[in-house]
Amino acid sequence: MSIPTQTITPPGSPGISLLEHVNINVPTDSPSLSFYTEKLNLPLDTRKSFNIPVFGSKTIWANCGASQIHLPTGPTGQKFRGRIGLLTSGPITPYLPHSISSTDTSCILQSPEGQEFHLRKSPEYKIDLLTYRGTMWSSNQNLTPEDTTDPVNLSKEYGKYEPESDSGGIIGLDYVQSSVPPSTLPKILKFYENIFGSTTFQTEDNKGIVAIGGVTENGECIQNIVFEENEKVEEYDGHHLAIYVASGVSGFTEVFNRAKDLGVVWVNPRFSDKADTLEKALECMQFRFKDIKDVDTGEVLYELEHEVRCSEHKDNRSDLD
Ligand SMILES: [Fe+2]
Repeated sequence: MSIPTQTITPPGSPGISLLEHVNINVPTDSPSLSFYTEKLNLPLDTRKSFNIPVFGSKTIWANCGASQIHLPTGPTGQKFRGRIGLLTSGPITPYLPHSISSTDTSCILQSPEGQEFHLRKSPEYKIDLLTYRGTMWSSNQNLTPEDTTDPVNLSKEYGKYEPESDSGGIIGLDYVQSSVPPSTLPKILKFYENIFGSTTFQTEDNKGIVAIGGVTENGECIQNIVFEENEKVEEYDGHHLAIYVASGVSGFTEVFNRAKDLGVVWVNPRFSDKADTLEKALECMQFRFKDIKDVDTGEVLYELEHEVRCSEHKDNRSDLD
């Protein structure tokens, strides 16, 4: 197994260790799971299986390795203002009949709500990392890995998982990409550096990258959050992503305090977690923010809800979506 040398975030900075789920509503009046179960061929999480008969009023979770796609329902469908990247362990050939476009190495599938999913075959080292993360999902762990180059130790940072029976399918979330207004990219990256101590960089084709789980020597990330400037940015519809902060409770506390100092800690009335203080955030081991701000002026640059979790989050709590 070849694991590249990783430069995890700067010493003392928590960083983001996992892109754990994306959350997109499907419309109540026409709920459909078939895109996820038949076209993407994702297994459903059995912890939400009791909701399958009443899908349309209750949430379903679709597994992507150690990550998930959460599918609650709402008055209208939601989508990220850009693509969601997925990694496959095998060839993309089985997905081509369902794709709206393809290249030799990747293809795009589109959900009924218009969400584009970009599938590509995973580099070998990511298969190893994501598989280890996945298979460790259900055990109790020492949540602070000492050796961040060891996939087994990396995997110990996360909560629970039900091993995939399906081989050659989708093994993880690769990235989430969002369109942002012109002239905001450097400031948005600075926000992530400031809040999380994340490693960020811009690519030659002007995409802004927030590294998740470390960066290899040749600039590859395990997962990432991507931003791309666009003249036209759709109005925010309330979709969200969930991430884990590295370095256990101390890292989580540090990130919460930075978010509080910047005035971005936010309670979404839709959900049961109401963490607006550190005490409450430590009770549920998570907090939320929605506004991405210019850290120098306080100007709101972009809206995108983040569910920020500690590695000790009890993610078997079914009341948290
Ligand atoms: Fe969520």
